[in-house]
This record gives sequence, structure tokens and C-alpha cells, in this order.
Amino acid sequence: MAKEGFNSKAGAIAAAAGSAVGLGNIWRFPYVLGQNGGAAFLLIYIFFMLLIALPVLISEFAIGRKAGLPVMAAFQKLAPGKKWYLIGFSGVFCAFFISSFYNVVSGWTLYYTYISATGQLTTLSESGIEAMFTQTASDPVVCMLWMFVMLGITGFVVSRGVEKGIEQYSKILMPILLILIVIVCIRAVTLPNAADGISFLLKPDFSKITPKALFEALGQSFFSLSVGMGTMTTYGSYISKKQNLSQSAVSVAMIDFFIAFLAGLMIFPCAFAFGINPGQGAGLVFVTLPNIFNQMSMGQVISVLFFFLLVVAALTSSISLLEVVVTYLKTQFNIKRKYATLIAVTCIALLGIGCSFSTTLFNFFDNISANVMLPLGAFFIILFVPHVLGRDAIKAELEAHGGKFKLFNLYFFLTKYVVPIAILLIFINNILSWMGINTFDK
Ligand code: PHE
Repeated sequence: MAKEGFNSKAGAIAAAAGSAVGLGNIWRFPYVLGQNGGAAFLLIYIFFMLLIALPVLISEFAIGRKAGLPVMAAFQKLAPGKKWYLIGFSGVFCAFFISSFYNVVSGWTLYYTYISATGQLTTLSESGIEAMFTQTASDPVVCMLWMFVMLGITGFVVSRGVEKGIEQYSKILMPILLILIVIVCIRAVTLPNAADGISFLLKPDFSKITPKALFEALGQSFFSLSVGMGTMTTYGSYISKKQNLSQSAVSVAMIDFFIAFLAGLMIFPCAFAFGINPGQGAGLVFVTLPNIFNQMSMGQVISVLFFFLLVVAALTSSISLLEVVVTYLKTQFNIKRKYATLIAVTCIALLGIGCSFSTTLFNFFDNISANVMLPLGAFFIILFVPHVLGRDAIKAELEAHGGKFKLFNLYFFLTKYVVPIAILLIFINNILSWMGINTFDK
């Protein structure tokens, strides 16, 4: 079987950026930040992104490219006869879990594109906008139907091979999404009371740093960068040896962070301007943005375009999730990509039906995957680097393009000590606080 790959040299990296940027930035980041007190969470998030999630991203790229194989097979090849391939196995599970609620949210986004286009959203009052979301999220039939459409499109792209679908999007549509976000931000920060929203996002109140906030910021940093489950290992295997891996990882992380930050800058001024509770949870983006669109000239066009581009951004992320499952089935059971896709999509659809009917299940999958499974996956991936691959091998891979990785020593230090210890401490801290032992009390 010919090895799959991207046409242009930067194609795989564009695809990795497409995987990272998605609902995690525009839907999840603002709602989790809103629930965890705003600016203080943003600060912790930046720290975790730089010191924890970024080294994991660099490592996943390097492991995937060195092995030249998708996640599970990569660990089998690099540590033959050992149990490390279980990382890939848990990644496949995690991909199922994330896909199940992710496609429901993608479905909402597609539905919002549709109701913007037909004018149903533009005529609504502020309370009507809130009611529209409640109605959407609590109607299992609507959730299911639109989730099926999104899953169908995802399956279609993946069955043809990711390289055919993603490259163009990431290079053309993502920049347009960015421009649109900037335009909406400008409107948002000029709304009355916008200043309150801006200070919610930028003026840290350190008493808001709780064990739960640390835990959720860590989970969100992994979720947003798509690390901890092997997506980026699989994509790493598509990256050419000529690419500078560390630099590519830094670019992906910067784009990812920037879009999440701008999403916050859109949403919180709007929440404060329209009296919407920033901590209300998963509906935040859907109850805030339509209000801004209604305040903009050409609001309906912007609304359609915005939700449409968000659908595409979600699609490239859910493609990367499905790709993990499909490459696993394909390589382990030696079946055709088409059949592997069909099996995976059917299983995800079943879980997705569960999430459409039950908010509890939806929240469970959302929390457990981002806050528990990804950090645990990342923990083992990061142990693999110094303890199995070793310093020389990882350095050689990161410098395979012929250049020098100037910050290698820092990267290796973070990988060997900071990342695993930080993950453990944040976990223990959170468990203690669950048990009612508040480690932050003086
Ligand atoms: N990073 C994606 C987003 O922000 C979600 C994702 C998580 C994709 C994990 C793949 C793996 O929307």
C-alpha cells in the first residue's frame, strides 16, 4: 500500500493547524474560561500552553515522523514488544469520546448557519436568542439530524484520505475565518459595557485560581492543541523530513492561541453588553454572537459566513479525530479505508445519539476526554520521549531538516521534568479538592 501523504511540503502542517483550530477555540475556550473566573484562567492557560502542551505537540510530531506510522503502529515500531502502544489504544478510545459530543456541537453550528441563512436568527430579540439555543440543545431530533450530517461529511472526507480535503481549507478558509473574527471583535469591543467584558478577560483576580481552574486550564490546553491522544502523532507521520518540526509546532500553537484569545475578545464584551452570564456553560457562544450580528450592518451575511466558517473549522478537527480511529482500524485489521471509515462513523453516531439525548452524557464525555484522558495520554507520551526514545534520537529527529533546534535543552528539560510532574501535581491537587481538602487555603 502506498504511503499516504500531502502534496505540498507544508500540507501536513496546514492540516495540523486545521486540527488544532476548531470548536475548542471558539466554543469551548470561552465557555470554560467563563466558568473559571476569566482573566486568571487566561494567564494559567498561557503558561500551560507554553510549558506543557507545546512540548507535547513537538514530541508527538517527532514520534510520528520518526516512525512514519500512525499513532498505535508508531509506538509498536519504536518500542517493539513493549506496552507503549497502549497509548495509541487509549487515543483511539479518546477519539471516539471526543467525536461523540464534538459532532453534536458541529451539528448545532451547521444548524445555526441554516437558521441564519433563512433569517430566523436575525429577527430574534435577546431573550429569543437564548430561548433558541435552549430549544436547539434540548431537542434530540434536531441535535441528531444535524450531527448525522456533520458526521457524514467528515466520513466522506476521511474515506477519500485526509490529504485531499484539508490542505486547501486550512490555507484559504482559515485566514478568512480569522479576518471575520477580527471584524466581529471590533464590533464587540465597541458595544456599550464592553469594558466590563474586556476586564473580565484581561484583569486577573487571583482568588479565582482554584484547583479546578488549574485542572480545566490544563485539559483545555491539550484539547485545543489536539494533543494527548495521538492525532498529532498520526499527522506527524505525514510531515516531510525537510520540515522544521519545532518551528511548525510553535506556529500551530500561536495560531491556535491567537484564535482562542480573539474568540474571548468577541464573546465577553458581548456577554456583558447584553447581560448574559459568562459562566453559563456550553451555550455561551450560541447565545452571545447572534446578538452582535444583530447589531452589525450586513449582520445576516456575517452571521451566515461566520457559522459556516466555524463549521469548516470544526470539520477539519473532527476529520483529524476520525483519522485516528480509521488509521487504527486500517493498519491493525488490514481493511480498506472505506470500510474502516464506515465502522468508525457508525460507532460514533451511536455515541452521538446518546449525547443528543442526554446532557449528562454530553458533559461527561466533554469533561472526561479533555480533563482526564488527554492529560493522561500526554503524560505517557512525554515519558516515552526521554525514557524510551532517548535524548539523542529525539534530537536527531527534531534536527532532521538540517537545522539546529536552539532551544532543545529547554525542550528536553520540560519534557523530562516539568511536564510529567506538573500533570501529576495538578491531578493530585484536583483529587484532593474533590475530597474536600483545599490545598489552596492558608
Ligand atoms: N483541537 C480541536 C479543537 O480545538 C479538538 C480536537 C481535540 C481535535 C483532540 C483532535 C484531537 O476544536
